[in-house]
Amino acid sequence: MKAPNPKSQLLGIVSVFAVFIVSYGRTLLTTNNQMIRAVNLGGWLVTEGWMKPSLFDSIPNKDFLDGAQLQLKSKTIGKFLAAELGGGTIIVANRSSASGWETFRLWRINETSFHIRVFNKQFIGLDSTGINLVAISNDDQTSGVFEIIRNSDDPSRVRIKAPNGSFLQAKTEDLVTADSKGDDDSSVFEMTIVQRLQGEYQVTNGYGPSKAPQIMKDHWNTFIVENDFNFIATSGLNAVRIPVGWWTASDPTPPKPYVGGSLQYLDKAFIWAETYKLKVILDLHAAPGSQNGFEHSSSRDGSIEWGQTEETIQETIRVIEFFTARYVNNPSLYAVELINEPHASGVSLSVLTKYYEAGYKAVRKHAPDAFVVLSNRLSGDSKELFPVATGLTNVVIDVHYYNLFSNIFNDMTVEQNIDFVRTNRSNELQAITTSNGPLTFVGEWVSEWQVRGAAKEEFQRFSKAQLEVYGRASFGWAYWSLKNVNNHWSMDWMIKNGYINL
Ligand SMILES: *[C@@H]1O[C@H](CO)[C@@H](O)[C@H](O)[C@H]1NC(C)=O
Ligand SMILES: *[C@@H]1O[C@H](CO)[C@@H](O)[C@H](O)[C@H]1NC(C)=O
Ligand SMILES: *[C@@H]1O[C@H](CO)[C@@H](O)[C@H](O)[C@H]1NC(C)=O
Ligand SMILES: *[C@@H]1O[C@H](CO)[C@@H](O)[C@H](O)[C@H]1NC(C)=O
Repeated sequence: MKAPNPKSQLLGIVSVFAVFIVSYGRTLLTTNNQMIRAVNLGGWLVTEGWMKPSLFDSIPNKDFLDGAQLQLKSKTIGKFLAAELGGGTIIVANRSSASGWETFRLWRINETSFHIRVFNKQFIGLDSTGINLVAISNDDQTSGVFEIIRNSDDPSRVRIKAPNGSFLQAKTEDLVTADSKGDDDSSVFEMTIVQRLQGEYQVTNGYGPSKAPQIMKDHWNTFIVENDFNFIATSGLNAVRIPVGWWTASDPTPPKPYVGGSLQYLDKAFIWAETYKLKVILDLHAAPGSQNGFEHSSSRDGSIEWGQTEETIQETIRVIEFFTARYVNNPSLYAVELINEPHASGVSLSVLTKYYEAGYKAVRKHAPDAFVVLSNRLSGDSKELFPVATGLTNVVIDVHYYNLFSNIFNDMTVEQNIDFVRTNRSNELQAITTSNGPLTFVGEWVSEWQVRGAAKEEFQRFSKAQLEVYGRASFGWAYWSLKNVNNHWSMDWMIKNGYINL
């Protein structure tokens, strides 16, 4: 907690060294290796719109946030716009159905102006004639700025103003140009929004620099308060897993669009954790560039760009070191999770392995005994981290078990869900929980399922089964999450209403 500020840490090897010395004074938590029974403080310092939709309510033009995916059908031609070949060449208007190449992602500049990105990640703009629409630029800074103007009587009809002040029109099936005055049907497109993101990037960039700081401060101040820590500690839990974003390590002046002030709330969380004798698992939930493309990692447009440049990895190591150094003298710091849910589709095992080795060292520089948590990759093999975990001390593998997010759960009954936990999850967990390997942690689970209209007693049995099975994880478990407008996802609600009995 009394660590150097980020700047002196960046600049001064001397100050880093000082923290290293101080960390030797810390009591060994490993001697008191108690099973973790935790709740996640999700949706607090890393925004997830579905957990608290009202946070997005007052954003101007809120359908057009970063990462919104649009499909556009020409009114006159009756076909969808597409980036030919997915990008790198012209935009055409000749597709009768829409999927990837026909989907356009917004990068919001302000409430009226946007860059537009295509499937292969190029931005659209005008070619050297100044009239024809192409997707060839890889750089948002030099790509075109477009305005999307909705018809006030029918908001699904739009006109798009190009960088040259003229409107786009579909002239023929293979010619889309920026030379309409905007008073003709050929410049009208029927728009479908096929996907939205509501993460930290969207909320801060959506409100913009004048409004976002106060909105975020009000959220941080009210969503989780000291009394929640009291409730957690008196409910039979002994720890909190706190998702944080990489920008918090640059507080109070994080890069745009993030806003300053979040670090103060993380500081408070550590003070409250100490007061109520709760352990903290600090979880880097959002890494620069996004490690999984989801809104909960603050992806700008659904792309996974973490790990694709050395810069994103070095920045992440700096972030891990910053947090570890800052909190190492607080007795509540129990574990540091190096990155949450990297996705196998965008993060290779070799990149992740190298990062885990470097991140481990960054933690160890300051905290010789804190646990280091390695999240399994989504869609990866459940044992693929064993090689990197071998040879490291006090490491934990984190797995997330939801009876959701896969079609296999769609038609399961109450009993089938419970059987799945008692049989399949139990087997999966047993397979990775070994006596000489890394510890295991079910770092996210929830008593929600696809069953509709289940009775309270059925939820109680589902919760009980999960508590029993995940209680066999050698490190422990953490419920997702403490607060959520969806009651079953709120451990606060589930405990207070008797759906979970600890
Ligand atoms: C939005 O951004 C565009 C492009 O940078 C700029 O020309 C325009 O004035 C901005 N509009 C507002 C309302 O800030
Ligand atoms: C659309 O137009 C492009 C460019 O003329 C052409 O290469 C492509 O085959 C066309 N696609 C369809 C589905 O007609
Ligand atoms: C913009 O479009 C007009 C046609 O409306 C065209 O004549 C002009 O060359 C374009 N302007 C620029 C700056 O590219
Ligand atoms: C669960 O495990 C059982 C027994 O091993 C197996 O037969 C079944 O296919 C598994 N269920 C699912 C949905 O994977």
